[in-house]
Amino acid sequence: MKICVIGTGYVGLVTGVCFADLGNTVHCVDTDVHKIKKLNNSFVPIFEPGLEELVKKCYKDKRLIFTTDLKKSVTRSDIIFVCVGTPSVKISNSANLKYVFKVARDIRKYIKKFKIVIIKSTVPVTTGDKVEEIINSKVRRKLFEVISNPEFLREGEAIRDFKYPDRIIIGTENKKVTKILANLYEPIIRKGAIYFKTSRRSAELIKYASNAFLATKISFINELANLCEKIGINTEDIAIGMGLDKRIGSRFLRIGPAYGGSCFPKDTRALVSIGKKFKANMSIVRSVIKSNENRRSLLTKRIYEIMSNKLKNKIITFLGVTFKANTDDMRMSSSLSMIPNLLKKGAIVRYCDPSGKKKSSINIVKLVFILM
Ligand SMILES: NC(=O)c1ccc[n+]([C@@H]2O[C@H](COP(=O)([O-])OP(=O)(O)OC[C@H]3O[C@@H](n4cnc5c(N)ncnc54)[C@H](O)[C@@H]3O)[C@@H](O)[C@H]2O)c1
Repeated sequence: MKICVIGTGYVGLVTGVCFADLGNTVHCVDTDVHKIKKLNNSFVPIFEPGLEELVKKCYKDKRLIFTTDLKKSVTRSDIIFVCVGTPSVKISNSANLKYVFKVARDIRKYIKKFKIVIIKSTVPVTTGDKVEEIINSKVRRKLFEVISNPEFLREGEAIRDFKYPDRIIIGTENKKVTKILANLYEPIIRKGAIYFKTSRRSAELIKYASNAFLATKISFINELANLCEKIGINTEDIAIGMGLDKRIGSRFLRIGPAYGGSCFPKDTRALVSIGKKFKANMSIVRSVIKSNENRRSLLTKRIYEIMSNKLKNKIITFLGVTFKANTDDMRMSSSLSMIPNLLKKGAIVRYCDPSGKKKSSINIVKLVFILM
């Protein structure tokens, strides 16, 4: 099939490359000229295990095209994936949809024959309705269909997660589109993924509900770790003992720093904001956000305690500064809130991160400048 992927970040690039690897022709479009230039020179701007090799292979086979030319990419494709960012709006904590809506306004100029517009970005319930309205203001309704197909990949495991997902969620009422997408995803469904068709609004909410639930699991075990430390019990044993119950499961029950990254922090906040909009109290999710903030400051306080509050000229080394292992993503990493506090107290901070060499140095140098 002929596919256009808009946005070549963690989700867009992986989506584009994996569909190309499955035999489709994929135009990957980004407004970031430097990123596209790098990709056309076989330089992959993000670290994701296995991604560089796959990009090089599909690019060489001419199944993967990197471009800033939206018109050509949309015109030549039957399916358009929207994979742009949806960061938090600072004051309201809702998802910022300006990039998604800009894409909707931009692509409608080039829709002259039937296109399936798939929103893969994580977006609040009813965003699909708004995207449909925007396109429909210039394009006849029968020339396009807006679908929700949220992405569940994890950074660090993105290629594997894309090719072997537990489920593929498709939010549409359109039977013809359901068939086309079942065909597109057939090689993945064949390997065992469940193809779950639902309404567009449900698909949008499934993504937030899933992320909020996983964030809850992480926060739960982190809070239990605080209790276990007070009692003198090994928290790992508690996690193993709980996880052995199939109703609970062992995944996401690992004790660690506060959850970070580009998804859980913003998606939990966005779910609270969706709740406010529809006048439903998301009290559990609000508590999870609070618990995670406490975890963030608690670990820094623990260092103060260990060092008897004497941090001046003490060398503290971070083994890993990205938000988790096997990624270079620094967004909302715990290290970014811990390091400034330690520097302010006069500590000398060193770090080593094999997967986040470039981005960690940029982010940490920025932090030091802000503090100076
Ligand atoms: N990162 C993850 O692990 C992950 C997992 C699942 C879902 N998601 C969701 O997927 C979406 C994308 O996340 P990401 O981490 O890949 O974001 P990202 O910030 O890494 O990438 C977004 C890309 O979109 C590009 N872009 C912005 N506006 C554009 C436009 N008008 N035309 C073309 N390109 C444009 C940007 O230049 C950037 O390269 C978000 O909604 C996120 O919540 C992310």
